Amino acid sequence: MERPIGFFDSGVGGVSVLRAARHLMPEEDYIYYGDSAHAPYGVKTPAQVQDLTLAGVAFLLDKGAKAIVIACNTATSAAIRAVRERYPDLVVVGLEPAVKPAVEKLAAEKVVVLATTATLAGEKFRHLADAFQATAQIVPLPCPGLMELIEQGETSGPRVEAFLREKLATVGSLEKAAVVLGCTHYPFVRPALAALLPDGVPIIDGSEGAAHQLERLLVQRGLRRTGGQGTVVFFNSDAQAERLNALCRQLLELPY
Ligand code: DGL
Repeated sequence: MERPIGFFDSGVGGVSVLRAARHLMPEEDYIYYGDSAHAPYGVKTPAQVQDLTLAGVAFLLDKGAKAIVIACNTATSAAIRAVRERYPDLVVVGLEPAVKPAVEKLAAEKVVVLATTATLAGEKFRHLADAFQATAQIVPLPCPGLMELIEQGETSGPRVEAFLREKLATVGSLEKAAVVLGCTHYPFVRPALAALLPDGVPIIDGSEGAAHQLERLLVQRGLRRTGGQGTVVFFNSDAQAERLNALCRQLLELPY
């Protein structure tokens, strides 16, 4: 199947998921649409995020996407149901904070979830937290302002460090804890975050799980491309599209 896989995010963050997918399936062609003109989504209402996500998905389908990855936890939380309702036959993969692997695979007794305000306030996260509340302490840690730094290309340095330090100061002991990156922008500050955490505290995100889920669905539907070397094309809704697409290309090449 020669059509590309479409990735959608409110900005450059979904590149962390694209990176995992490309690592797993380098033969596939990818198109990526960042809606930076309307970012951040994390402070918008579910209805606003739903409208923007439906528009983003329509953009990618218009460009010939054979499958869609909503590479944004906030957009998944607010809109994946509406996307599936509108396109019942489409392969759609979403992102959710990796609380389940943190508890089940890493046996964390405390799970600190860094995500947007909207994701953590959403119904989906409430259900997720409820499902694991009995096994682990779930600590939501909204990080408004962090995606804005990353959109500027700032993934390390004093501002990022001060931001993370201030956030971590509020969560208490990190003994037997795991940190979940529940926003697709945040894996790009992972090294800065790791430097601030006590040794042995694992950091996980949902990108690898989403990439595997995508592959499973493509194989199931006979949509998986085999052989060849795939391409990646970036689009962005913002007036600074050129800068943001260059940043996406740079983030995509970071070691996986
Ligand atoms: N990358 C998005 C996510 O995974 C959120 C960033 C935003 O606030 O727009 O939640």
